Amino acid sequence: MSIRPQRPAPATPAPGRLPITELSEMKARRQPIVMVTAYDAPGGRLADQAGADLVLGGDSAAMTVLGHDSTVPATMEEMLILTRAVTRGARRPLVIADMPFGSFQVSDEDAVGNAIRFVKEAGADAVKLEGAGAMLARVKAIVDAGIPVMGHLGLTPQSATMLGGFKAQGRSAEKALRLYDDARALEAAGCFALVLEAVPAPVAARITRDLTIPTIGIGAGPDCDGQVLVWHDILGLYEGRAARFVKRYAEIGESIRSALAEFAGDVREHRFPEEQHTYAMPDDELTVFESAVSDHQEHAEHRG
Ligand code: KIV
Repeated sequence: MSIRPQRPAPATPAPGRLPITELSEMKARRQPIVMVTAYDAPGGRLADQAGADLVLGGDSAAMTVLGHDSTVPATMEEMLILTRAVTRGARRPLVIADMPFGSFQVSDEDAVGNAIRFVKEAGADAVKLEGAGAMLARVKAIVDAGIPVMGHLGLTPQSATMLGGFKAQGRSAEKALRLYDDARALEAAGCFALVLEAVPAPVAARITRDLTIPTIGIGAGPDCDGQVLVWHDILGLYEGRAARFVKRYAEIGESIRSALAEFAGDVREHRFPEEQHTYAMPDDELTVFESAVSDHQEHAEHRG
């Protein structure tokens, strides 16, 4: 039985967009939900073409795209630009904007204001925020404003320092129980789905079984209702040390490097551009042009 309180309906979804209500139906049918991060319009488009259900404009962009060592420095302005680009590319998937550190911790008013910016300025369908406890009030406030919220528990990268680093969470009975209670509280606060990151598989399985909203796992085992991975990890674009839960499906970084090296070699060896990459002009126009340039030069010499 759902313990979710009645909430105002979210803003009208874009035509062709996956209805958010479909996610609970997918959970009920045991149809896995596919989520992937993306940070630009081609990424949104490719994720859409690949059949992703959810696209997360993740604050992992701080590390994967902007070159920081953690997700903490991501700003609202940066996340708005990146999320706007993703929503220009993705049509069917729901696009979820990741609320960056500092955009929701201070007050309910700030959290609602920033969530509204993601919907109005970036075209996001929903927002995601990390944590429970004091953040439950933020979730309620944003949902009350008509914006769907995805929760995020376990390894919450914005508070990695407090958690003792980027490591698995909920590995003792006591900590697992806290995770379980937080998950239930986020559901009760109105979250439509919950990311579980770096959580022991049996704990994620139990949470998944006892929630009516779908869980999306990243390093949380096979029993979550869906799975998410970070774009750069899937595609082999990220050069840092990969987490245990990452599976690389391509080595695009290697392809890019060798394509760029081939281009550089072609330029240096005068193999590029070729005839086919070059614009021509009619011969008679060229003759007129050349003689006009000569006239210009003669006049300049006389003046000098
Ligand atoms: O920012 C991000 O990419 C995320 C995923 C790891 C879920 O939060």
